[in-house]
Amino acid sequence: MRVLGIETSCDETAAAVVTEGGDVLSDVVRSQVALHAPYGGVVPEVAARDHARAVVPVVREALARAGVAAADLDGVAVTSRPGLAGALLVGLQAAKGLAWAAGKPLVGVDHLVGHLLAVFLRRDGAPAPPAPPASDERPAFPYVALLASGGHTAIYRVDGPSLGAIRELGATRDDAAGEAFDKVAKLLGLGYPGGPVVDRLAAEGDAAAAAEAVPAVMARKESLEFSFSGIKSAVARHVAKRGRPEGQALNDLCAAFQGAVVDALVQKTVRAARSEGVERVVLAGGVAANRGLRAKMAAACARRGLALFVPPFASCTDNGAMIAYAGALRLAAGERDTLDLAPETRTALPRVTRKGGGPR
Ligand code: KG4
Ligand code: ZN
Repeated sequence: MRVLGIETSCDETAAAVVTEGGDVLSDVVRSQVALHAPYGGVVPEVAARDHARAVVPVVREALARAGVAAADLDGVAVTSRPGLAGALLVGLQAAKGLAWAAGKPLVGVDHLVGHLLAVFLRRDGAPAPPAPPASDERPAFPYVALLASGGHTAIYRVDGPSLGAIRELGATRDDAAGEAFDKVAKLLGLGYPGGPVVDRLAAEGDAAAAAEAVPAVMARKESLEFSFSGIKSAVARHVAKRGRPEGQALNDLCAAFQGAVVDALVQKTVRAARSEGVERVVLAGGVAANRGLRAKMAAACARRGLALFVPPFASCTDNGAMIAYAGALRLAAGERDTLDLAPETRTALPRVTRKGGGPR
């Protein structure tokens, strides 16, 4: 089975052709980062307009690189939720048009399910993840997945690929982890998106030297929920009082901030695996590129006998391949959607954590 996947939920216009077995035949990602950078974050209307310009050429390129014509496809998968409504709409309309014209089945994919299954993608010649060695085999179900991106941060138990087999164990009550990186980077004058820059500076810093500026992100130790707005405010207060640090002091502050965020992500993920009695841990989302997170998660998993699976970077960040693959599994299960498929801003996965509030 060869399935085209289209992703436009946020600030990447992406399309890919993937087989039911997860082989990536093509994967085209056109980032809008430069477009949103002057605003320090994604501007929804700008995103939607740019998707509208880019989606057809991106889809054409994905088909061409895979050496596949629309007539050869077995289906068209598209991110239908969660995301920015206007941005999602562009991908949906493109997918519907193509599916209708080529007479192919259409399936909507929940973006978060795509991220959670991205570990199964097989890419030829993908560069090895920067650090540290993780098993390159694919995990078996069940696994506990930490999904940490600019838009989402949550821990899931994944018993299978369908919506009903995925359960949120805890999520952030406020900012996503990547959002916290981006906001802190903005406060420090490091540009957008901030995660990669903070990661790089943190590697040169000494977390202990700036520990007093940054509180631990572990409000309620026993809970699997996160909160990152406190640490962001602490950095804001620090900068307001002392000014923007430079040189080594900047590196130290980045190290302390990153260390606190990573500690919370690692401790809660490992605790979730233990309390669920699950032996496999999977990383997903753009923050999975963070070298501090990879190193600490690998060490914590090794200590507790958990197998860690870290997909290559191209599978962690937003991409069309994960959508194509999740869609292929839906098609293989005999599922399909009609041309009435509409965008939804929220995920279809059940939530246990309420944003801005306590547990439900
Ligand atoms: O998954 P993604 O590409 O897009 C979504 O948000 O869905 O994730 C992007 C996020 C941004 O917030 C970016 O700052 C963060 O991932 N990020 C990182 C690193 N690389 C990307 N955060 C920390 N360390 C990194 N190396
Ligand atoms: Zn994403």
